[in-house]
Amino acid sequence: MSRIKILSSMLGYDLAALDYDKKEKYLNSFEQNKLLPLFGEINGKKILDVGAGTGRFALILFNAGAQVVALDVSSEMLKMLANKNKKIEIVVGEAENLPFEEDYFDFVVATFLVVHLKNLTAFFDEVYRVLKDGGRFIVTNINQKEAPEVKTKQGKIKIESYYHRPEKIIKELENLAFKIEKNIFIYENDIWINQIIVASK
Ligand SMILES: C[S@@+](CC[C@H](N)C(=O)[O-])C[C@H]1O[C@@H](n2cnc3c(N)ncnc32)[C@H](O)[C@@H]1O
Repeated sequence: MSRIKILSSMLGYDLAALDYDKKEKYLNSFEQNKLLPLFGEINGKKILDVGAGTGRFALILFNAGAQVVALDVSSEMLKMLANKNKKIEIVVGEAENLPFEEDYFDFVVATFLVVHLKNLTAFFDEVYRVLKDGGRFIVTNINQKEAPEVKTKQGKIKIESYYHRPEKIIKELENLAFKIEKNIFIYENDIWINQIIVASK
């Protein structure tokens, strides 16, 4: 029996892109509709979705009237988004090196992303830089200790993943001068499955 390959996010999500949207309901269940209300009024607001993937959440923000920029390291994931919506700006790039000027966005959001980042400091630092003063960062952290197997046309793979303790994420943000506004936990059967943080600059 051959071993399951562990791939980088870029290679892994390029392979997984075609089937990613089949998991939409499952992914939504980690948020229980609690994410969008945290933004308040977003009509006309500039929002950067980092690790936007196929646009699961970027489309919700766009439909609520925001000007959305979707960044991702996987061009195949972004292609799926572009097929659904041509008005969302798509940018292939890395969370740790955001190609935007400072003080630009009203919000930065990252859902199901930090589980793929080994070191969060560079990413959080970049988010702080591109946010306007008073802007907010909304980030989710799933409770996933083991990377799941993903079926692709080229066989089963795993995508490079890292578990982050909730208190470690809060500390990292505070160390970079973010102010923690909310730290919400989503539970299933008495176990937390997702942490949702709202932090402001
Ligand atoms: C689990 S998907 C989440 C997609 C979307 N945010 C959602 O909630 O459905 C993770 C996404 O993060 C992207 N990603 C992983 N590491 C990244 C990095 N360093 N920079 C930018 N995007 C990254 C992957 O390519 C993938 O599209």
